[in-house]
Amino acid sequence: MKTIGVLTSGGDSPGMNSAIRSVVRTCAHYNIKCVGIVRGFSGLIENNTKVLNTRSVRGIINRGGTFLYSARCDEFKTKEGRKLAYNNLKNSDIDGLIVIGGDGSFTGAMLLEKEYKYPVIGIPGTIDNDLFGTSHTLGYDTALNTVMDAIDKIRDTAISHHRLFFVEVMGADAGYIALNSGLAIGAQEILIPEVNMSFDNLISSLKKSKKSGKTSSIIVVAEGDKTGKNVFDLASKIEETLPKYETRVSVLGHIQRGGTPSCFDRVLGTQLGVRAVESLIDGKHGLMVGISNGKIVFTPLNKALKGKTKINKELLRMSQIMNT
Ligand code: F6P
Repeated sequence: MKTIGVLTSGGDSPGMNSAIRSVVRTCAHYNIKCVGIVRGFSGLIENNTKVLNTRSVRGIINRGGTFLYSARCDEFKTKEGRKLAYNNLKNSDIDGLIVIGGDGSFTGAMLLEKEYKYPVIGIPGTIDNDLFGTSHTLGYDTALNTVMDAIDKIRDTAISHHRLFFVEVMGADAGYIALNSGLAIGAQEILIPEVNMSFDNLISSLKKSKKSGKTSSIIVVAEGDKTGKNVFDLASKIEETLPKYETRVSVLGHIQRGGTPSCFDRVLGTQLGVRAVESLIDGKHGLMVGISNGKIVFTPLNKALKGKTKINKELLRMSQIMNT
């Protein structure tokens, strides 16, 4: 391994910069040249790269977003696109690649491994926390804190106006952000795609809370939840069924992806970056480097993508106990 490439791809997440910095500095430590690829797989196809040294990554550990920029690249989904990317890697003498991203990015990384026997290591970077083989993806912890802060503020106005708020949070098809933030803010109910709570149960829960004297409530809804057609449809159906409720909807959206990375995400990014480089040096690839019970662990990329981490339904049960 004389030269290692690094890129960030898909939805950005806080902590990606910490991982890039770590990759660059670990390469320097082992006298390996590090090449940053700009805008993910698009940059690979367009040969948009820059050589990075320890100084190039100063002052980025505390910044959200990604210093290498990111993209969702449709061209890389085609064989022709991947051939261009592979040729550019070969022509630039890049011997191995570190891909920081989520499921879409890992699918691309896996194809590069499979079609060209090209060594790739994945670092899980997504706020969604939806990869198997790691208890935390980079950015998840920061996103949870962002959501918690935002809903605490929504709570203030909900209380003042005696309103029922539906707050939609991100997570793609997974409910990790909703479940954990919902527990942290004391949601009346948490709607996640993994568990069908049903419209009728939601109505019963709201009736019960009204009876108990509650004047305002927050329902946290994961974007992938299917209780309503969408969160607006759900809120208006609730208002039709329970006209005493004045409802409001708040979609938190992309603020969840930004902001200063938490301590946890900075430390995690550093650990994953070091081990990603060391793994390539040791000739181990086709793997995602993750964390489990505080230890760094490796999982084959296909397992990271297809394996199922069970959502902790016990948290949902406890959240309901809190609403007794
Ligand atoms: O994968 C991260 C994520 O933020 C998801 O939670 C969300 O569904 C999606 O990306 C939004 O993507 P985009 O930035 O392309 O709108």
